[in-house]
Amino acid sequence: MIFERLDDHALRVTTSCKLNLFLEVIERRPDGYHELASLFQELAWGDELRLFLEPGGTGRVRCVSGDPVLDADPGNLCVRAAHAWLRERAGGERFDLTIELEKRLPAGGGIGGGSGDGVAVLRGLQRLVGAEDTPAASYERALAIGSDCPFFLWGGTAVVRGRGEHVRPVRVPALAAEDLRFCLVLPGLHVPTGPVFQRFHAGGGRGERAAELEALVGSSDLDTLRAGFWNRLERCAQEVEPALVEVRRALDRSWRVPAAMSGSGSTYFGLFGDEGEAREAAAAAERALPGVSTRVVAAARGARS
Ligand code: C5P
Repeated sequence: MIFERLDDHALRVTTSCKLNLFLEVIERRPDGYHELASLFQELAWGDELRLFLEPGGTGRVRCVSGDPVLDADPGNLCVRAAHAWLRERAGGERFDLTIELEKRLPAGGGIGGGSGDGVAVLRGLQRLVGAEDTPAASYERALAIGSDCPFFLWGGTAVVRGRGEHVRPVRVPALAAEDLRFCLVLPGLHVPTGPVFQRFHAGGGRGERAAELEALVGSSDLDTLRAGFWNRLERCAQEVEPALVEVRRALDRSWRVPAAMSGSGSTYFGLFGDEGEAREAAAAAERALPGVSTRVVAAARGARS
C-alpha cells in the first residue's frame, strides 16, 4: 500500500490485492463463519483512493467513484471503515470525509479489492488526523470490517487461519525470484462470498487438506509450488456461477501450468517464470475465453510505507 500526502488535509492511497494460492475450508464455526487454512499472496495491483478530510464537520462520509451503485452501497467497505474510525477515534466525528475512489479491482472477484480499500481508509485516516492506532486496535478494527482485512495490515505472503484473524507472515522459497509474474484471468463475473460458503456448508462441508498448506509453504521450486495451488471453494463457486466451469476448462486446455481460483471466485490465476511467459498465457486465455480480461502482475513484498 502506497501513501502520498497531497496537502494538509488530503492523501492519496494506492492499494494492493491478494490471491489465495491455497484455500482449504475446514468447517463452519458456531459463529457462522468458516474456519480456513489459506496461503495468501499480496499483489502489486490496486485501486486508488484520495481522501479529503474537512475539519469542522459532523462525521459525514461520501464515496465518489463514478459508480452510483457502489457509492450508495451500505456494504461499501471504505465507507464503513471511515465511519467506524471517525466515530471511535476522531473525538466525536469532528470531520467530514470525501473518498474519491478509482476502482480498478473487480468487485466480487475474490481478490480482496473491497478489503484493501477498507484497510487503506483505516490507515489513511490515522495519517491524516495524526492519530496512530495501536497495532492491536488496528487489527481489531480491520477484522470488524471484513475477514480478509487483517491480512492487508501485513501483506506479503502469509498463512491465514481462523476466519481470517490469524495471520502468519511466511517466506516461501519458491516465491523469492523477482521475475515471477502472476497472470490473472478476470471473467467479469461478480460472485458473492456468502452464498459460496453456504453451498459448502449445505454440501456437508468439511475440508481435510489443511495439512498440505505447511508443505506448500516449504516449496523451493516453482513446479512444486504451482502443483499445490488449490481451492476448496471452486466447486461451490461454480455452482453459484456456472460460467466459471468454462473458465476452468479453457485454462486447463490452453495453459501448460496449473490454474487456480482465488477466494470465492471469480478470478483465476497462474504463476509464470517471467513477464514474457505470463503475457503469452494472458494472450492464450483471451483467445480461449472471449470477453474475459487479463492482468499480468508481480507479487508485493508487504513493505509498509
Ligand atoms: O467477513 P466478510 O464480510 O468478508 O464475509 C462475508 C461473508 O462470507 C460472511 O458473512 C460469511 O457468510 C462468509 N464467510 C464465511 N467464512 C469466512 C469468511 C467469510 O463463512 N471465513
